[in-house]
Amino acid sequence: MKRRTFIKSGIMLGAASSAIPNISFARNSDKIKPVVISSGNGQRATAKAMEMINNGSDALDAVIAGVNIIEDDPEDNSVGLGGLPNEDGIVELDACCMHGPTHNAGAVASLRNIKNPSKVARLVMERTDHVLIVGDGALRFAKAHGFKEEELLTDHSRKIWLKWKENLNKDDDWFSPSDENSADIESTTGTISCCAVDLAGNISGVTTTSGLSFKIPGRVGDSPIIGAGLYVDNEVGACGTTGRGEENLKNLSCLLAVEFMRMGDSPEEACLKVCKRIVRNAKIKSLLKENGKPNFNVTFYAVNKSGAYGCASIYGPKKFALHDSQKNQVLDSAYLFNKMK
Ligand code: GLY
Repeated sequence: MKRRTFIKSGIMLGAASSAIPNISFARNSDKIKPVVISSGNGQRATAKAMEMINNGSDALDAVIAGVNIIEDDPEDNSVGLGGLPNEDGIVELDACCMHGPTHNAGAVASLRNIKNPSKVARLVMERTDHVLIVGDGALRFAKAHGFKEEELLTDHSRKIWLKWKENLNKDDDWFSPSDENSADIESTTGTISCCAVDLAGNISGVTTTSGLSFKIPGRVGDSPIIGAGLYVDNEVGACGTTGRGEENLKNLSCLLAVEFMRMGDSPEEACLKVCKRIVRNAKIKSLLKENGKPNFNVTFYAVNKSGAYGCASIYGPKKFALHDSQKNQVLDSAYLFNKMK
């Protein structure tokens, strides 16, 4: 088959999976247990995604619509509009998505001025022959698809950045505010990840973030990297993550979690094993506290093909959002070390 014909048939398959849900992957829906899992900031995402799944949507449509709510929310400082900026005060967003039935993926990194990087990631998957587009190329690609540029720094996130900048160095020319009520400095790797199993038993996921706050411009974390910030295998399950992206990049953590599930681990066991692997591999001094434990955290959110789920973090418990088709809840994760101790 010629490359172009092949790509077009791939696009048709992608389009079909959105427009006609679960077209060639339908199974006996009596046996399917739909489930949606997300990070602690994702309860509105899990509610939206499950509503769509119950109406017959493909899991990818559902999870992207779910996280779009948080990307659009100026009050959430971890992602999209209102996400915390880089050290120059510019918001740079990363996202990826992965569609189980087609085993296809798309991603963008260091995308400026577009509040829904998850939607752009999906277009990279469906409308190009690529997986990852970054920076100015990603912005031009988004604009070609009709996305409008907007300022993503809100007054609140600008004040947090300004306070960070003013407190960087006591000898420079920036004075810290005397106003006691000014915004607290928050340094985050806040992110939203959302994975789902739909009524046909198909699995998809998405991860989207403004990345590490006050990062060096151009820094890319795990969120747009397939295998690090998200991985889906339609025969096995899916895993997404939040937390320190550098460790997930070095351990390809989400791929690892899915491979542990393939070998028979439950989602929770798989997430815990990945946490242990990361701790074992954290050897350099800058990553360790005086007691030898890591000075960072990561959390994993996993589902398997039968609709079982699990969440684990290095330090916990951490909150996660879970819709099991009966109830939309925020639950506590499993963990290696109690965060209070
Ligand atoms: N996990 C998000 C980041 O490190 O960018």
